[in-house]
This record gives sequence, structure tokens and C-alpha cells, in this order.
Amino acid sequence: NIPLITIDGPSGSGKGTIATLIANHLGYHLLDSGAIYRVLALAAKKHALSMDDTLALADLAKKLDVVFSVDALKNNQLILLEGEDVTQTIRTEQVGANASKIAAQPMVREALLARQRAFLTLPGLVADGRDMGTVVFPNAQLKFFLTASAEERAKRRYMQLKAAGENVKLESLIDEIKARDERDTNRAIAPLKPAADAIILDSTATSIEQVLDSVLKEVAK
Ligand code: CDP
Repeated sequence: NIPLITIDGPSGSGKGTIATLIANHLGYHLLDSGAIYRVLALAAKKHALSMDDTLALADLAKKLDVVFSVDALKNNQLILLEGEDVTQTIRTEQVGANASKIAAQPMVREALLARQRAFLTLPGLVADGRDMGTVVFPNAQLKFFLTASAEERAKRRYMQLKAAGENVKLESLIDEIKARDERDTNRAIAPLKPAADAIILDSTATSIEQVLDSVLKEVAK
């Protein structure tokens, strides 16, 4: 029985940060499932596929040549698509919007299931996404659902994108986050919702450190 912690939640809920910190703390592997959808969106663009062409997208998803590793020097995530470093380029709002569009397609999600489950190896895994505790790993021992108000999440996103040198407006990010929530929550397949047995943590008025503390307390139980 390989240790497994799932962390789901909407955009900007802090789940990526928390998942990375927990994985580092425990020495577990990390599955950034959102990055897989983002890489697929980028690959689709590169191969001139339409974001509506489900059959072609599902086919591309199965063959996708993506490698996740860790930058030896900086200890940062390193993502290679067909040998090319896409760690930064997958983080733009445009790629995120396309990722969300292709993620609503059942055949695409199905095509990525085995790839995601293959991350579950010793010594353990922290899986970050929207459906980790509900669809990909329904039997996980410990499940978290992180959330925060749309305004607070847009603010965090704004800081991130600013730091990455993107020219963004807070108002349009709030709209974009609400649109993304709407699409992720109301889609027919793997909608964004907490697993029945998930621990729900709201970080609207709580620092990342405090959320991390709560998660670690649960892990230690
Ligand atoms: O950075 P952000 O939280 O906005 O998104 P992400 O975690 O990088 O994921 C990008 C998009 O992929 C999301 O908007 C979701 O629509 C989709 N996604 C999904 O459907 N299922 C997952 N397990 C992870 C991401």
C-alpha cells in the first residue's frame, strides 16, 4: 500500500504550493496533474490541432512525450515537452484557458488516466489537481480540498503572474477565475467538487503556512 495524499481545489486555492511543500517535506513524488493538461494544450497548439478536436486531442494525449523532473541546481520543477523546456511557457493564462477547455472532454481525461496513476510509486505520492480524490485516486487514504474566495484567489494569481513578468489586470483575472470555476464545476465529466471523505480547508483568511500546518497535523495522525 503506497502512501498517497490527494490535494484538490480550484485555481489559485494554494494547492500547488501546498502540494509541493508536502511532497518535499515527506520526500514523496509530486503529481501536478494540471501541468499535464497544460502541456497537452501547448502540444495541441504546436501541432496545430483545434481545442475542439477531441479525437485528435485524445490521440495526442496518449502519445504525449512529456518528462517531469527536478532542476538539479535550483530544485525547481522542470517540464520537457518533446525535449523542449516548457516549464515557464505552460503557465500563461492563454495556455490555462485552453487546458480548461480540453479538460472538459471525456476522451481526453480518459486518455490521461493511466499516465497519472503511474506516478504512484514508493516512497509515496502527493497528487495535486481537480479530481485526484474523486476520479484518479478514489481510494487515497488522505484527501484534502483547498478553497478560497474567487477574489482572494485572483489576487494570488495576480502576484504569481506579475512575478513571472506577465502583464495582467486584476479585474480581468477575477472574471477569468470565475469563468474557469464555472466551467470546471459544471462540466459533465470529473466536475470540481470535494470527495465525500475529503478534509476541506478554506484559506481565504489563512496564510499558506497555517494551511500547511493543518495539513501536516492530519498527515501525522
Ligand atoms: O493553475 P490553475 O490552478 O489555474 O490550473 P492548473 O491546476 O494548472 O490546471 C489547468 C486546468 O486543467 C484547470 O483549469 C482544469 O480545468 C484542468 N484540470 C483538470 O481538469 N483536472 C485536473 N486534475 C487538473 C487540471
